Amino acid sequence: MYVLNTWYVAAWSTEVTREPTRRVICEVPVVLFRTRAGKPVALADRCAHRAFPLSAGRLVYDSIECGYHGFAYGPDGACTRVPAQPSIPTRARVSSYALHEKDGWLWIWVGDQDQADVSLIPDTHWMADPAWATVTHTVLFECRHDLIHDNLLDLTHESFLHQTTVGDDYIYEHGITVEVDGDVVTVDRLMPGVEAPPLYARTMGTEGRYDRFHATEFHVPSYHVLHSGITGEGRPREEGYLIKVLNGITPVDADHTWYFYAFSRNFAIEADWATKELEVGLATVLEEDAEALRLQEIGMKERPAGEHDVLIGQDAGVAKARRILSQRLARENAGSPGSPGSPGSPDSTAAERRPVTVA
Ligand code: FES
Ligand SMILES: [Fe+2]
Repeated sequence: MYVLNTWYVAAWSTEVTREPTRRVICEVPVVLFRTRAGKPVALADRCAHRAFPLSAGRLVYDSIECGYHGFAYGPDGACTRVPAQPSIPTRARVSSYALHEKDGWLWIWVGDQDQADVSLIPDTHWMADPAWATVTHTVLFECRHDLIHDNLLDLTHESFLHQTTVGDDYIYEHGITVEVDGDVVTVDRLMPGVEAPPLYARTMGTEGRYDRFHATEFHVPSYHVLHSGITGEGRPREEGYLIKVLNGITPVDADHTWYFYAFSRNFAIEADWATKELEVGLATVLEEDAEALRLQEIGMKERPAGEHDVLIGQDAGVAKARRILSQRLARENAGSPGSPGSPGSPDSTAAERRPVTVA
């Protein structure tokens, strides 16, 4: 059901402190905390003694002490103390998980720890780059993670769901170009000679016609970066008002998914009013998505077995991503070795890299 051999965003850096924090990632309960030196730690949130959640305990120096009978565990998950006896049973240990801090996010690997390669963590530098200003949100979606991926890969929903913020009829009127490179699917839409969306026009200080674009780059199975913006008609994208929307999509269980969201912009970066306006507007966008996918999840559960989605041309990226995701799951379930997917990994074929244009 979940790809485990991959990096997922577990938390914002600021969420993990000297107070133990519980989080469930792909049905794996973990407790997050920092050592006195500030190193972030992720351990299984279940005491080896009698399964009490460690997150309900407390930190003693660099160990976490179970709140029930006081077993203590170090950052590597080994038991360091059993208060009621001098010896420590050999099985008194909890799993520890690779955790990597980068640009304000903590990424976790809950699968095979030997495969946790930090070079596979995607580029998120915009969150930490002073040339960009960033607005963030975290939302717990009441739906399976697949629905969020589909949502981000088919942005024609903006025309209907986000009419007051980033939507406009012209979105679904423009076709897409889909590219696959290894486990990265990119869905690109160029909308020449249109007006900027309402939420952006004021903060960008623009009026009139521009070329608008958005390209969703899905790093299957856990992260999307949306390269978006407007530029002068016929001008290169990099000259324009640019937005990078970073989306860490982390399954909790079959019905819940964490959505870690960062919206970085290269315009009006010192304007607090613009940041405030975007904070409010983007919260609305996320609430609209969350409510839509909550309703869609109900529809999915009510749908009889054997009734399937009816995909259209605009779903070309959705279809390709689903194929990669099911390949990743099959590979993992078969227990086959190999790199857990990165751009240009060996399973990407020349045919998959060819762009597909959908008018
Ligand atoms: S359950 Fe943790 S010490 Fe007993
Ligand atoms: Fe949306």
